Order: sequence, then structure tokens, then C-alpha cells
Amino acid sequence: MSTWDIISEIAAEGAVLLENNGILPLAPEQRKIALFGAGAVDTLKGGTGSGDVVLEHVVNIEEALLDVGFEITSGEWLADYKVKSRQAEEERYRAMHEDHAATGDPQMSVFLRHNQVLPSGAPIEMADHKNEIAVYCISRQSGECGDRNTAEGDYYLRPEETEHLRVLGQSYGEVIVLLNTGAAVDTSFFREIPGLSALLIISQAGICCGTLAADLLTGRSVPSGKLTATWAMRYEDYPAAASFRDNSSDDKYYTEGIYVGYRHFDARKIRPAYPFGYGLGYTEFSWETISCTVEQEQVQLQVRVANTGDRYSGREVLQVYTSSPAGKLDHPVKELRAFEKTQLLKPGEEELLTLTFPLSQMASYDEESAAWILEAGQYAVLLGNSSANTIPVHYIQISETRITEQLTNRMTESAAKTASSEEKLPSKEALENISWVRELTRQQLAAIVTGVGAIGNAAVIGSASISVPGASGETSPCIEKTHGLHSLIFADGPAGLRLMRSYRIREDGSVVVPKTGFLSLTGYDRFVGVEPPAPGTTEVLQQTTAIPIGSMLAQTWNPQAAKKAGKIVASEMKQYGVHVWLAPAVNIQRDPLCGRNFEYYSEDPLLAGKIASAVVQGIQSVPGCGVAVKHMAANSQEDNRFDENSIVSERALREIYLKNFEIAVKESQPTFIMSSYNLINGVHAANNWDLLTGILRKEWGFRGAVVTDWGTTRNGMRAGFGGKTRSQPDGCIFAGNDLIMPGDRRDQEEILEAVENGQLSLEALQAAAAHVISVCQRLGVCEKV
Ligand code: BGC
Repeated sequence: MSTWDIISEIAAEGAVLLENNGILPLAPEQRKIALFGAGAVDTLKGGTGSGDVVLEHVVNIEEALLDVGFEITSGEWLADYKVKSRQAEEERYRAMHEDHAATGDPQMSVFLRHNQVLPSGAPIEMADHKNEIAVYCISRQSGECGDRNTAEGDYYLRPEETEHLRVLGQSYGEVIVLLNTGAAVDTSFFREIPGLSALLIISQAGICCGTLAADLLTGRSVPSGKLTATWAMRYEDYPAAASFRDNSSDDKYYTEGIYVGYRHFDARKIRPAYPFGYGLGYTEFSWETISCTVEQEQVQLQVRVANTGDRYSGREVLQVYTSSPAGKLDHPVKELRAFEKTQLLKPGEEELLTLTFPLSQMASYDEESAAWILEAGQYAVLLGNSSANTIPVHYIQISETRITEQLTNRMTESAAKTASSEEKLPSKEALENISWVRELTRQQLAAIVTGVGAIGNAAVIGSASISVPGASGETSPCIEKTHGLHSLIFADGPAGLRLMRSYRIREDGSVVVPKTGFLSLTGYDRFVGVEPPAPGTTEVLQQTTAIPIGSMLAQTWNPQAAKKAGKIVASEMKQYGVHVWLAPAVNIQRDPLCGRNFEYYSEDPLLAGKIASAVVQGIQSVPGCGVAVKHMAANSQEDNRFDENSIVSERALREIYLKNFEIAVKESQPTFIMSSYNLINGVHAANNWDLLTGILRKEWGFRGAVVTDWGTTRNGMRAGFGGKTRSQPDGCIFAGNDLIMPGDRRDQEEILEAVENGQLSLEALQAAAAHVISVCQRLGVCEKV
């Protein structure tokens, strides 16, 4: 199968059909349509910022439909839209230049605050097209450094969009609405405007977004995705809605605790527009529980699923939830425990699915005893195809409350600040294995634990690598000659490999570094200008594949599909010499307005953890390829991301915001974990020993290395990106945050100073270097054993 075919298949598995009156898929003779909406022309392949992957051209929906033989009757509207879109882009770049001239801020920051805003297009005229079909595509852009908002044109429709749909609903026989978005938008228009026939999330599918729409409309592919987050009736229904965008204080109280997403909607009995786990197909399914057993602490269900339709194939996702008895702790109404997706079943075809999960997964974190406890009582096992459509199929009786794991509270404000009984020493395992680290000088050690630094001003969204243009950063080659320790090259994700699409080399093979550095972001070149090619230089291409965005990958509910996506990325890492992919991004989608939800997987930690593990396994199945699972943890917003202090209970951290990372670590042993910019309960994530050593290494058995997010330390952030409180470089090393990226000379100096004056133990520095070296060995870039 070609890469294109694999991506197209994954994309169809991640497309979620929300409504269908039967118009979809179109009949073979229905090949004449009226096409409207910004997304028909400006089809978005993904989000912005470090999660971007630059493509030369994105096949839009209009092109894709024409390509498969559709006749499009709205040519005039589309032509006019193109003019408006070009004008809007010109205006955007003009505003960027003005901003840059006025503020003198770094070009990258200026560029990032001028996101593309798609025009609405001309009004649509009311007419009688009752025998015709209209397709309307709504697109929403979002990205790093900024959150979304509830203004019209983002979470909510613009009045012009609503008016378009109203006119279409009255004029056309059928109206199909496509959502080209990476996260939830308000869908009340569908309930309120008469005459709308179908609502389909085509998400942002990377290289194949236009063709995906064509494939789904014609039925060449069938949608089989399910929502990975609850889509509310109105934004105010979300638990953090009242405070999510309020950054008047750095402190952000996660008052909803464990009641994130469907856990909140269920508990408050709020009916969502579309529940977590929901998605239709082009056919119907039935399922029957064959057995449910509990043996050796494992719950196992066998379920027979059948395609009961008579026309179309499809895939169903069966989901197992459990509900806990009332006890010492309060519990969500239900929580996801397992899920399985069928193969593509033809009409009448059946499949036997086996769904398993350990009993211990039903335990809750009790802060009082600092333990995971399985409370006595009756647990219901619920089976269904969404969180709102389940029935109990079995009951499990736990006779006595038991502790499934005794731990220590590590994340509460007081736990972090008061000295615990345990001394906060570095983890020594790697140090024992790589005992030659002790022979290295302090300067060498400090260089190993800090990257080679930023080029120009582009450190935050990484572009600090020179070996691979457009990669985000690389580690120091300081002991290359003596010990054979080569540089590790890091590049973003998670929507593919973010590299420069091309660069130039001189005759001697050396790379020409443009004055503006190497920053691979869609449209950035147009802002900063491309230098004319110097004589005697040759262009080198680095074409990488934009895969479906993270949220779409998760919407497949299929770890096998996620693994395949990982393998595609890994093969390109090999091709271009990248060792570590800065992905997957597994943060919990706490609120639909987080600017980076498109990169993240879900509001549910089990689903996020399982998809992440599969992606990591896909990448790491290729020797020499590693990952950085990011951003640990409680990094739920983009506005104020450097200073935001997430105030979260230990229980909510353990059950929600860390659980996803825990699953990924235990099931896939990633090479790196990336710590986050924010503080958690008053302590910078990158400086938090309890988080990065206590929990990650000691409790979960992590054997890789921890890398900072780009420019986390106060020294890494001198280029006008804002932020006040900054983590400390020596604090990173103390905490077990082994590698500071992209690194800065001052980071090294401060680390050395701290060792000198006894604030940081030499052993902690050696341990951090040993962790980095052991990952280098694992990835084949260290010759010395
Ligand atoms: C982002 C990370 C990214 C890094 C390197 C940071 O700004 O938060 O997700 O991996 O830049 O580009």
C-alpha cells in the first residue's frame, strides 16, 4: 500500500459522521453539487505552530471533487471567494509587516500572532434548487501560542455563515455540512436551521483532506471515527468554561477535579450535543455479549458485532465503561476501561471482539491514604458504542476495599514544598550502566545536558538544528571525537515531520543558512522573504508527509491505525536523519478552546494513553527512531503558557492528567518525555523532582530521558516571547529533567556554578548526562558502550 493509501484509510477511520438523513453516501448518479464555504477552497490540512507540516500544495475540496468527476454549479461563488481569500491574505501580511515595524518583536512571534482568518465569502442567493444538493464546508484554524475563543468565526459560526446555511436549507433539496476543524465547534446551527441533511467532521487530514471529503461523499470510503471529546450543546456547559480564557491571574484552578469531559456531563446530567465516543457510519450494527469473565484480575468480554445493514460496509467501535459503587470517594457515573474496533464488515458480516482490562484499572486515587484503592461494592460493566449509549452487561462484586498500589502524595502544593521523608536524590540506574560518565569533566557533562543552542530568534518553536534544516534542535557533539557520542537530532510533530521543505548547499556540501534562520511554518517564507539562491549552490529537498492531526488520529479509536501513522513518520526520520520526533502530544483536552487541542488526543486519559502508546510503538519499531511524549503535564492552555500555574488536586492529576503519560510509559517505554512550560501547584514542571523522578522513574519505571520544552529556562527565553517566572537550569538537572533544549551557554554556566557552590550535586549532573547517553546508545548515536 502506498503512503497516500495508508493515510487515506486512517483519515476515513478518523472522520466522524454526526448526522445523516440518508443522503450520505451520495448515489452514483448524484454527481452535480453546489459547493460553498471557506473550507471548500481554503481546506485546512492541520493547525499552526510547531504542529505544522509545510506542504507545497494542499488539494482542496473543490479540486478533489472535480477530480472524481463532480460537476460544481457554484463556480461563480467560489471564484469570488478566491478573490476575497487572496485579499484577506494580502491584508494579513501587510498587518504583520506593520506590527513588526511598530513593535520590533521577533518575526516569528509577529507571524504567530497573525493567524490566517478565512473570509466568509459572498452572500448566497435564495433560489429554487429543490432537486439539487449543496455541500458547505466550515473551516477553523488554531495553533500554538494562542487559545481559541467564543467569538463568532471560531467556536461559534459567523452571522454570514449562519445566513449561508439558512439560505441553503431553504433553497436546496439536501445540504451536507462538512467540518474542517481540529476540535469542537458549536453545532446548534444544525438543530436550529431547517433543511440541513448531514453533518460530517472531516477534521484536518494532512495530505489528503480534500480527497477524503470526496471519498466520503461518494462512499468510496466510509467514515468510522468516534468523538474523543464531548461536543456540548453550548460552550458554557463545559466544566472550565467560566475561567478557561481568564488569565488575569497566573493561577488556574482546576476546580472540576476529575470531572473533565463526559465525566462532568454525566455527573451534572447535562445532555451534550454529541457525546464522547459517538459517531455514525453508513450502516448499522448490532452487538451481543457472548461472555464476561473475571479471571486472574483481568476482566474479559467477548462481544459479537454484526453489520445489520444491507448496502454499505462499516466499522464499529465497542466501548466498555465501568461504574463504581458509592463509597469513601465520589466517582464519575462511568469511565472508559477498554475499546475495540471491528474490521471493515460487509453487510451481514460479523466479528467476535475481545475486550480486556485489569481490575486494578477500576481503582481510584485516594489522597488520604495516598493509594489507589478499589472500594468494596458492586461495579457495573457497561457496553456500548458511545458514552451515552451503553447498557450494563455484567456486575463485579468486590467484597473488601483493597489497596491496589500504595504510593506517596507527591503533587500537592504542600507535598512539593515540604521536605519528604525520601531524600530527593537522582535516579542512579543509568549512572551504574554508563559508569564512564564519571570520567567526564564538569564542562563536558554540562554540555551534554544542554542542547547546542538557538539559531537567531527561533528557539521557541524549534528551529535550532543545523544538521537537518528545519529540525527543532540537536544535542552537543562535545565528546564525539573522544567517546563517539554524536548529536541527537530532534524534529516536531505531531502531524508529520516538520522540516524545511528545501534548503541550499554549497559545492563543498555545507549548508547555506539564510539570515532568517530555518523556520518551517506554512506561509513564514512569504513574510520573511526568500533570499535569492547564491551562485554555485544547489537546492536539496526534504519532502515530508502531513499525516492526520492528533485529534483525528485518536478519532480512529484504532491503535493499529495510529501505529501505521507512526511507521510512516519513522521512515521519513530515517530518510532525513532525525532521531527523535517531538510527539506524540498527549495532553488532556480539558476545554475545547485550547489552541493545541488539534495536536492532542482526547478528554479521556485511557484513550489518549492507548493511542499514544501505539504511535510510540510504531516509531520505535524502526531502529534508530525515538519520540518525546509531550508535554508533561497539566499543560491545558496556550495563552500564558509559560506562567500558567495549574492548581490541580493530586487525585485529578493521578487519574486524569498523568494517567495518559503513565499508560504511554508503561506500554511503550518512550525514549523521551518532554516536560511542560507551566507550573503545577506552584512548581515548574521542569523543576519538579517529584514529577520527573519520583513519579515518572520511581513509580512508573521510565528508563528514557526527560527533555524540556523549548526555551523553558530563564536563559532560553531572551527573544521576547514573554513569560516571567521561568524554570532554573540547575533545578532541571536536580529534578531529573535531563536535557535542556534548545540550550544556551548561560544554562551551562548556571549548572556549573550550582555544582561549584554545592547547590547541585555532581552526581545529579552525572545522572542526567547518563540518561541522555543511554538514550543515545539506544538510538545508535553513541559508539562507546
Ligand atoms: C512546543 C513544543 C515543540 C517545541 C519545539 C515548543 O514551542 O511547545 O511542542 O516540540 O516548541 O519546536
